[in-house]
Amino acid sequence: MSALESSKATQNNNNEPPLAKGLPIIGSAASLFNSPVEFLREQHKLHGPVFKFKAMHKTMTVLAGKEINRFMAGEGRDYFTSEVTWGRLRDGLKSPHLMIAVDGDAHAYQRKLLKGQFSKAAFKERLNLLVDPIESTLQSIEDGDEVHVGPFLRNIVCRQIGLAVQGVEVNTQQTEDFMTTQNTYLNVFMIGKWPKLTLLSPKFVFSALRTGKLLKKVREENTNRCPADKNSVTYMDKIEQGVHERPDLYTENDVRTISMLPFVGGVDPIGGTISFILYRLLQDDELRQRVVEEVDRVLLDAPLNFDSIDRLVDVRGLVMETMRVNPVAYAMARTATKDFDFGGYTIKQGDELMVFTVANHWEESFFPNPEEFDIERYREPRNEHKNGAIYAPFGRGPHTCIAAGLAEMHTVINVAMLLRYLDFEAAVPLEKVKIKYIPAPFMSENFKVRFTRRKI
Ligand code: HEM
Repeated sequence: MSALESSKATQNNNNEPPLAKGLPIIGSAASLFNSPVEFLREQHKLHGPVFKFKAMHKTMTVLAGKEINRFMAGEGRDYFTSEVTWGRLRDGLKSPHLMIAVDGDAHAYQRKLLKGQFSKAAFKERLNLLVDPIESTLQSIEDGDEVHVGPFLRNIVCRQIGLAVQGVEVNTQQTEDFMTTQNTYLNVFMIGKWPKLTLLSPKFVFSALRTGKLLKKVREENTNRCPADKNSVTYMDKIEQGVHERPDLYTENDVRTISMLPFVGGVDPIGGTISFILYRLLQDDELRQRVVEEVDRVLLDAPLNFDSIDRLVDVRGLVMETMRVNPVAYAMARTATKDFDFGGYTIKQGDELMVFTVANHWEESFFPNPEEFDIERYREPRNEHKNGAIYAPFGRGPHTCIAAGLAEMHTVINVAMLLRYLDFEAAVPLEKVKIKYIPAPFMSENFKVRFTRRKI
């Protein structure tokens, strides 16, 4: 695998990747939990594409940059498994075939079964299912209304995914239940940041119960819907198909977790990305004016449809640049299934890995003036993101986001609608707003904006 070797590695005699400096006992745990992206960026700059860190009792190897991105999606796809790290979540949920936590046939079958449901093309005729929930929410806003950005965005995205993917109306309480359930499972089982006792807290117990009930209802309503509605194939229909074709892959709990997957996969990443966009626009009047003008120009006499979305090039640039600078899914947790060499070091079978997929996002050689927020990078003739596997906001390899195209369009729609309907100003000093990892990054819960309706 000579393409993966770097001269740096040959200088190292004991063939052990460098270890990030940390504190006694806890190692790098504090930096990793509080600001993981900054920690990984710093260490990548210091050590190059391979290094290790300790966090409490655990040692992980970080592999970073375009070579590993290519390898993971190409000839090396069998060298990585997500079954160990994500497996902790799978075991916690008692869902033995949780899609993100299985590889090989069990994963390939589920991916093929569901792919069409998450494709952008599948929404061509039913874009209204994404547009209506945000439009109605924005139209209900009065001048001077203040909202906490986090819950506001999560509610909108959850309603959209509920309607568009599951055919169900999701209310505010149900959104909160989803988020509490999902984040508790992730932080307790997968990340180990919260103690297992959290699972006994009344907030979690009731949220999980209500979420379970809702998912059961979604399944029942799908089965019992009137025959006229059965012409179109729903997400739950595909899962039922899976249950029928491959009963070995679908326990009761698997059905429950897979029906929750669109919410888990989509709500925080899309909401988090938009929270970064709002924060950015509050600090950059020129950029804001530019994108608002584009939205007004394009949507003045055209509805939001596939054609008009294509013409929102500045908004798309804004979304893509935000995903470069503030990627919400910055690293993939994996375990090596076999020994292999990378950057001159030997990665051993069983090593716990963190693939820092977005490592090149801040590199001058790929993104000139990387600290500059520049929405024009992604269009002809620059196309900076197309230079190999350097731009990876949706991950890499067999588990790469199944809904990448849809998610990007969904984010563009939401940003365009917000800018078209509402003007907004900060309702809290912006210096008090920070990035929080819950575990995906989001602007902190104190981030509030005040809206004014635009005269359109
Ligand atoms: C800005 C939005 C989004 C981002 C940045 C994002 C990012 C990612 C990333 C990085 C992965 C790979 C995780 C890994 O390999 O460990 C992933 C997987 C996944 N995403 Fe997304 N995602 C987004 C939106 C969505 C949406 C809207 C949905 C569904 C409606 C979704 C569904 C999924 C699913 C089901 C997987 C698992 C795929 C598999 O295991 O094969 N994502 N996503």
